[in-house]
Amino acid sequence: VEPIENEAIRRHSPTLWAALSPLGRRVRYPKDIPFQAAEARGSAFNGTIGQITDGRGAPIPLPLVERALAGLEDADRGAALLYSPVAGLPAVREAWRRWQRRGVPDGLVSGLPLVTVGLTHGLSLAADLFAGEGRAVAVAEPFWGNYRQTFATRTGADLRSAPAYRDGAYNPLFVEEALADLPDGEPALAIVNLPSNPGGYSPVSAERRDLVASLAREAERRPLVVICDDAYSGLVYEVGVPAESLFWSLIDLHPALVPIKVDGATKELSLFGGRVGFLTFPFAADSEVAQALDSKVMCLLRATLGSPVATAQIVLLQALREEGVAAEVETVRTRLAARYRVLRTALGKLDGSKVRALPFNSGCFALLELSPEIDAERVRRHLLAEHDTGLVALGGRYLRIAFCSVRKEDLPELVRRIVRGVAEVASAGSLERAGSR
Ligand SMILES: Cc1ncc(COP(=O)(O)O)c(C=O)c1O
Repeated sequence: VEPIENEAIRRHSPTLWAALSPLGRRVRYPKDIPFQAAEARGSAFNGTIGQITDGRGAPIPLPLVERALAGLEDADRGAALLYSPVAGLPAVREAWRRWQRRGVPDGLVSGLPLVTVGLTHGLSLAADLFAGEGRAVAVAEPFWGNYRQTFATRTGADLRSAPAYRDGAYNPLFVEEALADLPDGEPALAIVNLPSNPGGYSPVSAERRDLVASLAREAERRPLVVICDDAYSGLVYEVGVPAESLFWSLIDLHPALVPIKVDGATKELSLFGGRVGFLTFPFAADSEVAQALDSKVMCLLRATLGSPVATAQIVLLQALREEGVAAEVETVRTRLAARYRVLRTALGKLDGSKVRALPFNSGCFALLELSPEIDAERVRRHLLAEHDTGLVALGGRYLRIAFCSVRKEDLPELVRRIVRGVAEVASAGSLERAGSR
């Protein structure tokens, strides 16, 4: 039987309908236990859900567990110990919506974010809904490697990349380039991750205009779902670099383009272990299409995780409720900005003969590009073995520095070790080449 949600999506967003995967078309939130339990919430006699309570809706925790949550108000402690609704705790969804929409004009419509278990889970839900066997997914190369697992390995989607940088500068046309060979009319996904991992880059205003225009041109050719991976949202360190999510610029841009926002507390609120992420669609929360999409997401979430983690949501809520949260987030940003500036200065001194820094201005990373004859993996292993220095090697010729996890004072020495290590690997390589001649 076809889910009734499909009709709403077909009617209100033909773009999303065209882009839905076979799995995305199949799923709808079942009217089983969590649904029936939600309907019965507050009844005098509630014998719905298999959750151990005192008979009045409060949990019966082990005292050892309760002690760990001792600082919480009773209501929060209760919520932390019981099941979360499948879509997330309403207070957390509302609070995150306010957080996301700081400074966003009321005219830009977005729904109530659905809670996910970290951003990876938000991405995998988007992949389940819109990817699938053969579906084209445009990404900028180099990209966060887990996109391969999430989209291609799991669903069979066809990851198509185009360079993130050209001639040492950001390439805002990567989506159009990546999809150039895809026949007109065929739906596609694009992942736009700003600030980027591994690049640590956010387009400056002119580049961002080009990026938006390019996405609109691509939507002339096909239904296009753009997944805005906002993992590093807000971590911008240069004036003149737009810090607001691209999601807001894409709403109502073109009828054949639907943006989806994937964000969360992991990096934005420096709550890595909490695993609280969000998935947001550009439709009013009470609209038929938003409810149809919520039903599909909730079905997938219920089928895999049961429900999202209540305890972590309550921890996040303690922060989101307070006026001071923005100032505390700003303190973290300022600390990273100081590291960024030290690293930018140190990398600015590279002569560029064997290794050069690609432009970076935001996020947690800087990306180094090695000369073609030097193998990044070999440099990585050499730095680890001889210089007590760990970096990530990517795509054969890139090294990623996570300056978010190195002390400011240590960054100049880190760069000196990289320069030394690269030179050593390069000279060993040229000796080997001479020897084999
Ligand atoms: C670009 C990008 N997206 C998503 C994620 C996943 O975030 P989470 O740890 O919340 O799953 C990461 C984490 O490193 C990331 O770098």
